[in-house]
Amino acid sequence: MALAIETIGLTKRYGSLVAVNKLNLQVEKNTIHGFLGPNGAGKTTTIKVLVGLLRPDGGTVRVLGREVYGDVPESRLKVGYMPELPRFPKHLKGWELLDLYGRMYGMTEQQRREQIPKLLEMVGLKGREKDFIGKYSKGMQQRLGIAQALLNDPELVILDEPSLGLDPVGMVEVRELVKNIAKEGRTVFLSSHLLFEVEQVCTHITIIHKGVALASDTLQNIYSRISGAATLVVELAKPIDSVADVLRKLPFVSGVEQGGRMLVIELKTHDDVRPQISQEITRAGGVIVSMSFKGRTLEEVFMQLITEFGGQK
Ligand SMILES: Nc1ncnc2c1ncn2[C@@H]1O[C@H](COP(=O)(O)OP(=O)(O)OP(=O)(O)O)[C@@H](O)[C@H]1O
Ligand SMILES: [Mg+2]
Repeated sequence: MALAIETIGLTKRYGSLVAVNKLNLQVEKNTIHGFLGPNGAGKTTTIKVLVGLLRPDGGTVRVLGREVYGDVPESRLKVGYMPELPRFPKHLKGWELLDLYGRMYGMTEQQRREQIPKLLEMVGLKGREKDFIGKYSKGMQQRLGIAQALLNDPELVILDEPSLGLDPVGMVEVRELVKNIAKEGRTVFLSSHLLFEVEQVCTHITIIHKGVALASDTLQNIYSRISGAATLVVELAKPIDSVADVLRKLPFVSGVEQGGRMLVIELKTHDDVRPQISQEITRAGGVIVSMSFKGRTLEEVFMQLITEFGGQK
């Protein structure tokens, strides 16, 4: 497994506050990895360590195979970074800012001339590049931040809350943008406190709370690893009393509640047992109108992990 980011026991303190606590993080190459956690969880702190803006107090950090400890300029060359709520000098025009960053990256004039218009187009700022940044909306500044993060054609793109402060349309646009960035063979590591955002864009997630990683896996595995029953909701054409009793006898059923035509069946398994359930209901004389899994949302997963973590302390 090729890793774009690996931290082992990463710890960062601010005085007596442990902002990041022995964090083990593995981000596989060519994935979109969401770093999810509530406010103050330690996301920005971790990211600042990854890009060399903060020195860790403990642990090791490898980014694209290279050890990072504080500011190592070479390790930044293949990494694009968008800080949380980027705010750029108002007196510069959009393209001027990108040109300035391009020069800092050591891009030649020709490279800048080729690359900058492409990026402006990609982030939807074409036509506005000659306006002063002071006239940009928050969303436009955010998108300029993303363009800036892509300027050096990075292998790894680290975005700290890319949709913070955006309206719903802006959020959708940023999500599409992130997916396109990843399609070009890049690894994207993005932080967010928004479950639905992570759910819609990311292939992998790490959930962080109070500086501790509570879970890190593919989105699918995170869902399926969750303890507790899966629930199947069945609607019958008309209520039949015997059905619930029949279902209760099945080995993979832990409980059945009936309310009129609706049956709520708690399962002990995550296997798809709908065929067996439907067979039993039919045999008991029931007619099924609809049957669906009541999915566990990422929000439930998140709350469960946080509650479990709180309980351990
Ligand atoms: N410069 C600082 N000095 C002291 N404490 C800090 C500093 N920066 C962050 N902290 C504290 O460290 C903890 C982690 O903060 P961090 O900004 O990393 O969280 P976050 O997950 O990015 O939160 P958010 O979702 O609000 O951006 C918080 O308790 C915060 O108050
Ligand atoms: Mg933050």
